[in-house]
Amino acid sequence: MKIGIFDSGLGGLIIAKAIRKAMLEYDYVYLGDTKRVPYGNRSHEAVYEFTKEAVSYLFKKENCAIIIIACNTSSARALRRMQQEYLVNYNHTRKIMGESERKILGVLIPTAEECAKYEKVGILGTLGTVSSDTFPREIKKINKKTRVFQSAAPMLVPLIEEGEKVLAKQFIKKYLKPFLNKKLDAVVLGCTHYPFYKNEIKKVLNKGSKSAKGRTRVISQDEIIPKKLKEYFVRHPEIEKKLAKNKKAKILVTDITPNIKKLSQKWFGKNTRPELIHL
Ligand code: DGL
Repeated sequence: MKIGIFDSGLGGLIIAKAIRKAMLEYDYVYLGDTKRVPYGNRSHEAVYEFTKEAVSYLFKKENCAIIIIACNTSSARALRRMQQEYLVNYNHTRKIMGESERKILGVLIPTAEECAKYEKVGILGTLGTVSSDTFPREIKKINKKTRVFQSAAPMLVPLIEEGEKVLAKQFIKKYLKPFLNKKLDAVVLGCTHYPFYKNEIKKVLNKGSKSAKGRTRVISQDEIIPKKLKEYFVRHPEIEKKLAKNKKAKILVTDITPNIKKLSQKWFGKNTRPELIHL
């Protein structure tokens, strides 16, 4: 069985690349809903429906034992409901058929655990993630004292999907401005797409933001999730032992865009071709 990684678009490829680098032995399938990205400005219901369709596809057609919802917006708006409603029914049906159970994990709680180590953090996220207040809620469950500031960055995802850099710099400055006078210990890139602009974001923060102890750190999920997943497999050997170990990887998309073609080859090998699927 495979490890599935889902994102609304191409952003999650950064997380997939980092997970694969840390655990090359497994078989992976990445699914990017490039036709319907961005999810960030969509309703709760739409994000739930889209995520459920993608997850169903990965379980049923790709035989995944575990799915990582790399998309923060989906993690914030759909994950809990999917674990409570969809997965319960799905696993129940499997049980009747004598088949094994499947798991869905998100990226938000592992990130919240990292944030909870600090006194003051800023969350840069999509409108959907920020308005759900899931990050502050989850961080405060772990450490009540952490102060959380949020800024929504709605324009960054479309710019990244387009591969646009120049215009993005102006938006990065605008979206980070609310953080600059807060003496933040760390700023979270709370969307899979934002690590594409990690250096630019660091530059703006280095110039304009200092924590009480020094530099404002940037927390990027590609640096957190692989380690957390490894730890998860140690705690859950019953899942790990279901996973095939053929070092295979494939990329599925709902629309083949020039940028996804380029990045798939750059990060997953010259012969990687994203395959078109219909959800
Ligand atoms: N990649 C998604 C996230 O991490 C959202 C991007 C979008 O579709 O708006 O939040």
